Amino acid sequence: MSKEKILVIGASGQIGVELTLELRRLYGGAKVIASDLREENDLIKGTGPYVSLDVMNKEMLHVQVIRQGITQIYLLAAILSATGEKNPMLAWNLNMQSLLNVLDIAKEEKLTKVFWPSSIAVFGPTSPKQNCPQQTVIEPVTVYGISKYAGEFWCNYYNHRYGVDVRSMRYPGLISYKSSPGGGTTDYAVEIFYNALGEKKYKCFLKEDTYLPMMYMPDAIRAAIELMQADAEKISIRTSYNVSAISFSPNEIAQEIKKHIPGFVITYAPDYRQAIADSWPQSIDDSVANNDWKWEPKYNLEKMTIDMLNNLDKV
Ligand code: NAD
Ligand code: SER
Repeated sequence: MSKEKILVIGASGQIGVELTLELRRLYGGAKVIASDLREENDLIKGTGPYVSLDVMNKEMLHVQVIRQGITQIYLLAAILSATGEKNPMLAWNLNMQSLLNVLDIAKEEKLTKVFWPSSIAVFGPTSPKQNCPQQTVIEPVTVYGISKYAGEFWCNYYNHRYGVDVRSMRYPGLISYKSSPGGGTTDYAVEIFYNALGEKKYKCFLKEDTYLPMMYMPDAIRAAIELMQADAEKISIRTSYNVSAISFSPNEIAQEIKKHIPGFVITYAPDYRQAIADSWPQSIDDSVANNDWKWEPKYNLEKMTIDMLNNLDKV
């Protein structure tokens, strides 16, 4: 039996709910402590322990790590791209201090591993738009992207200087039906499904031809766990790995949904999030992740659309 005891910080969020459920399936409910600033999400209630925790309070976090005998942390607390632009200092403070608190405690308590997601938001207008490579020009223009890029280098620093085994990937926009997204530029690709099944119409905040890298949540959860379970000698990137799955525009996802809901109508009213989307690559080259730990996505646009509609219809 595994000796690992895992703390998920931000467990009530879009990724946190599904990651907690999968980690509990793999390691056992009692071995995975869910924590968040907000209340416990209904979907994880009764599946294992939950603690109310503010990751900004380093002392309390440290106490929990010692008291619960934590060996691994998955840090998911953050402010995402669109919300970050509304309050840049809040986003910078949370995104940076949460990571520094976790890395420092991981160093002191000699935790076995830490997972911290970065984002495609590290890339900016000067990065290549198509098949954006692992190593390239990186000049982010959002506070979220700046915080993620700085965070990547803190992960690299704690790994090289103190031997902290922190692993990271640059997630694209994530699409899911269990827990709502938390204020990102790619959230339209989740909202569209709810509106298609409900009112059969959706007003999109991005232009119809805005291509962005995306991934379905089951692939994102599997990617995190495969990266965390990979042998340490296979991990050549200690900043953050590019990972990719699907790339589509609002028009393309709308056409895919129309195959199942013929009366669905999409209209466009781009807002401040268009500039954020325009600053990001349209597709990502993840060959380094594929080479190092054999990363492969399983869901394309067609398969994801069917799964989303089937599951949301049941909810
Ligand atoms: P989310 O906003 O849905 O969830 C974040 C959770 O963190 C929330 O439940 C929130 O209550 C909690 N939180 C906020 N402040 C906290 C604090 N001080 N202490 C404890 N908990 C706190 O975000 P998400 O989409 O699940 O993203 C998780 C991570 O993945 C973030 O680092 C995000 O940048 C990254 N990411 C997400 C996406 C995506 O499309 N969802 C894409 C790229 C990267
Ligand atoms: N989905 C995220 C966002 O739009 C990308 O990190 O902010």
